[in-house]
Amino acid sequence: MKYYINTYGCQMNVHESEKLAGILEEMGYTLADSDKTADVVVFNTCAIRESAEQKIFGNIGMLKSVKAANPNMIIAVCGCMSQQKGYPEMIVKKYPYVDIIFGTHNLAKFKEFLNKKKSQKRVVEVVETEDIKLRDSMEATRTSGTNAWVNITYGCNNFCTYCIVPYVRGREVSRPMQDIIDEVEKLLKKGFKQITLLGQNVNSYGNDIDDEKVNFANLLRELDKLDYKYRLRFMTSHPKDLSKEVIDAMANGKHICHYLHLPVQSGSDEILKKMNRHYDTKRYFSVIDMARKAMPDIEFSSDIIVGFPGETEEDFEDTINLVKKVRYQQLFTFIYSKRKGTVAEKMPNQVDIKTKKQRLSKLIEIEREIATEISQKYLGKKVEVLVEGIHPKKKGYLMGSTDFGKTISFEGDENLLGSFVSVLVDKANHTTLSGKIVDVLDKSNSEYNLPKDKVRRK
Ligand code: 5AD
Ligand code: SF4
Repeated sequence: MKYYINTYGCQMNVHESEKLAGILEEMGYTLADSDKTADVVVFNTCAIRESAEQKIFGNIGMLKSVKAANPNMIIAVCGCMSQQKGYPEMIVKKYPYVDIIFGTHNLAKFKEFLNKKKSQKRVVEVVETEDIKLRDSMEATRTSGTNAWVNITYGCNNFCTYCIVPYVRGREVSRPMQDIIDEVEKLLKKGFKQITLLGQNVNSYGNDIDDEKVNFANLLRELDKLDYKYRLRFMTSHPKDLSKEVIDAMANGKHICHYLHLPVQSGSDEILKKMNRHYDTKRYFSVIDMARKAMPDIEFSSDIIVGFPGETEEDFEDTINLVKKVRYQQLFTFIYSKRKGTVAEKMPNQVDIKTKKQRLSKLIEIEREIATEISQKYLGKKVEVLVEGIHPKKKGYLMGSTDFGKTISFEGDENLLGSFVSVLVDKANHTTLSGKIVDVLDKSNSEYNLPKDKVRRK
């Protein structure tokens, strides 16, 4: 019996698909080459923007004829899209060949749903709350080679006015600190070399736990004590909550990468207020300065939304100026998308799509120049690289990442996968560096599993 998981959206979803893959493999399923040849197909969905939803519906639609030819195929739809009000009913109506629908709070019950389906026509179970212990106890089938994802919080309390996440993922819940430390140590023992802590807002980790010692800075310090050769990353940080203590923990750590994904969303104080972000640009710049002072080699990335309701040309210019001032290594840029039930949905002065598109291309163009200049800083320099995979196009080449989060390619033997090497950079463009290995700093002797692509992100 074969399975296939189509994963959409963020890293949180990728990791949750790993957990679903864990259930399926434990039940004896193995990975299919494509969803068309699988016995169980899962759509782990995203609801962040309308474009994500359209793509998912298109892909579910494409399975209609496949399922007609193979009626025993089981199609499951889960994740953020199915958690939205009215969506399960709509999916049942428009895609009656979908067999199982569940939400973000009950993925731990996937095995139960599959078993129920044997005696029922269809299983639809979307709930509002969950016991996180159940989800934590799920054994993930790790799919990303030498990288492992570890949840530290679930949900979000921030209610940014454009965002659907708090509605589909519920209130923020932190995992106990010792559970996280134990999970990370287990992964390091297994030979994983890069751990990424996941949460919608990692900086508020522990706010819901009645113990002063349980906070993000302490979690970082505790994890940093683990005595293995490894890198520690985290995302996403919120500018309102990122503390000096966290920055100091990063600066003083042995394992914590000097890289911050710090979404600003807009460079206009007026728009930030309307977005309910709880910081202004002054506060944002002060966090950037604080981090640069503590770690002169740090690089930043960010998320920006263009065309939020009421965004004027001047507001957009403020965003451009902020981007020029901060100089991000990478920007994730989005056109504002109206989400049902959010506060911004009802705001006046929605921006027309033509203006949104123009602003997006201008921003991308400016960022491309900045990112190229940042990359070129590294020409002729040696950088420490974790070897993460095989180059998808160039034979004999490997791919890796630097401590500051840049992708880099170089010639090398596959037996270096999972090792740390020193690479002399000789080429640089806006997304990628390339160079030659000059030294092997730490040869991995753990068995390396190539990224399996079990949970292909679309
Ligand atoms: N429209 C466009 N972009 C959005 N994001 C979140 N909600 C929306 C929306 N309604 C972006 C934000 C966030 C990232 C994950 O997605 O920039 O940081
Ligand atoms: Fe959405 Fe804001 Fe929460 Fe991020 S912090 S998930 S943008 S509500």
